[in-house]
Amino acid sequence: MNYTDKEKRFNRYTVTTALPYANGPLHIGHLAGVYVPADIYVRYLRLMGEDVVFIGGSDEHGVPITIKAKKEGITPQEVVDRYHGIIKKSFEDFGTSFDIYSRTSSDTHHKTASAFFKKLYEEGKFIEQSSEQYYDPEANQFLADRYITGTCPHCGNERAYGDQCEACGTSLNATDLINPKSALSGSAPILKETKHWFLPLEKYEGFMRGWILDGHKEWKANVYGQCKSWIDQGLQPRAVTRDLDWGVKVPIEGADGKVLYVWFDAPIGYISNTIELLPKTWEKYWKEKDSKLVHFIGKDNIVFHCIIFPAMLKAEGSFILPENVPANEFLNLEGDKISTSRNWAVWLHEYLEDFPGKQDVLKYVLCANAPETKDNDFTWKDFQTRNNSELVAILGNFVNRTMVLTHKYFEGKVPQRYELNDIDKSAIEEISLYPEKIGRSIENYRFREALSEMMNLARLGNKYLTECEPWKTFKTDLDRTKTALNISLQICANLAILSEPFLPFTAKKLQNMLNLEANSWTTAGKDNLLEVGHPINTPELLFERIEDAEIEAQVKKLLDTKKANEMENAVASPQKENIVFDDFAKVDIRTGTIIEAEKVAKTKKLLKLTIDTGIDKRTIVSGIAEYFEAKDIIGQQVSVLVNLAPKDLKGIESQGMILMAEDADGKLVFVSPTQKVVNGAEIR
Ligand code: MF3
Ligand code: ZN
Repeated sequence: MNYTDKEKRFNRYTVTTALPYANGPLHIGHLAGVYVPADIYVRYLRLMGEDVVFIGGSDEHGVPITIKAKKEGITPQEVVDRYHGIIKKSFEDFGTSFDIYSRTSSDTHHKTASAFFKKLYEEGKFIEQSSEQYYDPEANQFLADRYITGTCPHCGNERAYGDQCEACGTSLNATDLINPKSALSGSAPILKETKHWFLPLEKYEGFMRGWILDGHKEWKANVYGQCKSWIDQGLQPRAVTRDLDWGVKVPIEGADGKVLYVWFDAPIGYISNTIELLPKTWEKYWKEKDSKLVHFIGKDNIVFHCIIFPAMLKAEGSFILPENVPANEFLNLEGDKISTSRNWAVWLHEYLEDFPGKQDVLKYVLCANAPETKDNDFTWKDFQTRNNSELVAILGNFVNRTMVLTHKYFEGKVPQRYELNDIDKSAIEEISLYPEKIGRSIENYRFREALSEMMNLARLGNKYLTECEPWKTFKTDLDRTKTALNISLQICANLAILSEPFLPFTAKKLQNMLNLEANSWTTAGKDNLLEVGHPINTPELLFERIEDAEIEAQVKKLLDTKKANEMENAVASPQKENIVFDDFAKVDIRTGTIIEAEKVAKTKKLLKLTIDTGIDKRTIVSGIAEYFEAKDIIGQQVSVLVNLAPKDLKGIESQGMILMAEDADGKLVFVSPTQKVVNGAEIR
């Protein structure tokens, strides 16, 4: 039974997740966008007793991997071997419950992708076209767009790539670049004719219009909107081959030095991995009409999964098409776009070093704040708050109170229940509604909503305990205490089942604590999951508080990254016009020492300093209050421009200026002699 799709009945589910590129480790953006929601969906389906295959794997082809290999002086295979291992381990560590996690450099995949291409080729589904492409005559090879750099015709950035200028964001054709250069040899590339195969997407335009725009109005607005805009702009033929020596070889004669385009072979990887998992029965999951195919992806993958891959499947003819593609938007990190190259990310393997055993906390935060309908921001502060005031204070606290009281009063055995009052009855009534409420949200890909409903059950538990006050009735009305703890324990048991899709490690722990056999979703909702007399184990804390110091350490790590990036990017301002020595000689700079300092009242930036210049003691007003506390700089030796004409600043006469240097992040620092010298020494 499922809670929606009442008319469309599916007998099995094929759930895929975008295959991450094997050229870097996983970060929180990957989890939040794709793998957390997919894993929730799949775990829920399994608890519902559905037949599911959950497919993952690494995407190991494409130009960026060859560039990385070249830079590091290793082979592309060595690059993907390294990252496939790291990525696979992160998925295991985070309990992503794939039925298979394989890779596109596998034998099965090469065979499957190759056969897929061949079938379409033989049935005349491609068009052949020759065109002129850049070729490096020194390296003797055609150049992928990413291998060509040059000047952007829009903004003049001299380091634009053949597919995009990262300075102004414009997407480019390699032939748009001014002064193109090969990244392989540095030489100027020449145009040379080459033949490629194209999938004529325009032939599928009518089909797409009917299938998506009329047939799948229920798709998420962000997904539907992107599809509509692509289709409305008119679909164009898409090259499905490339001149490159890394990837699946084009399996026809006269195609030496050509491979399948990575976006042609990668989605076929979903099929290859299913074949590897189920060599005998895989076809059911891809070809039977009563199988539901769902792709979990990030928003940058929408066109490939909603238009291009379906067109490939349609062209092939024997496959089903996706029933839904619940793509997420992006997760930012502390206000900035996550970026592998700028190291602006929270890496999963590093997270686990700093927060061992806390997989569920991260999963919780990433789901509670998932970018389901718009880009969202991950902040460490929010991470801490959600842990301390939601997981610890609501879920952990309710379970712990119930368990501790049961041990204290009833030797850890589920007590009997007596006559129910209105509070009990309404709690029981509410419990019964949760499985369907949460299930319906999950089936509609509203995972944040589903998670918050699960937490509402824990909230209900806390409220129920507070209203019943079993610690008070223990002396006055023992039957009430027994009844209240029985019902509280039933709520715990329900939580042990209903939290499993979201917090699998916690659910397991809770099941162990309750001595509860892992159960199915449909047994949840009941108030008799634990029998009277059933023994429970000693409670352990499900969650622990995260202290400020831990959060500050993470924030500092990010600030250090930011600083390092700024240093790298800092461009010195251009040199000023030349002067003659006499111009310089007019400037009188001396060493001096700050002997008094105070904030200028009603200003943010100004400090009033008294400086011993060796010549005299004078007042200088300086705009450094944002960077220094008055008390910290007394005794500091500085450089002073002493012959600057006095100036009135906020009613104080400033007699000179102290010299400061500005760091990349705008912070000011003193320019002082590296060793103490007498005050009044001339600086020349
Ligand atoms: N590697 C791609 C990315 O990270 C996703 C590939 S999904 C697949 O954007 F369908 F091609 F497998
Ligand atoms: Zn540009």
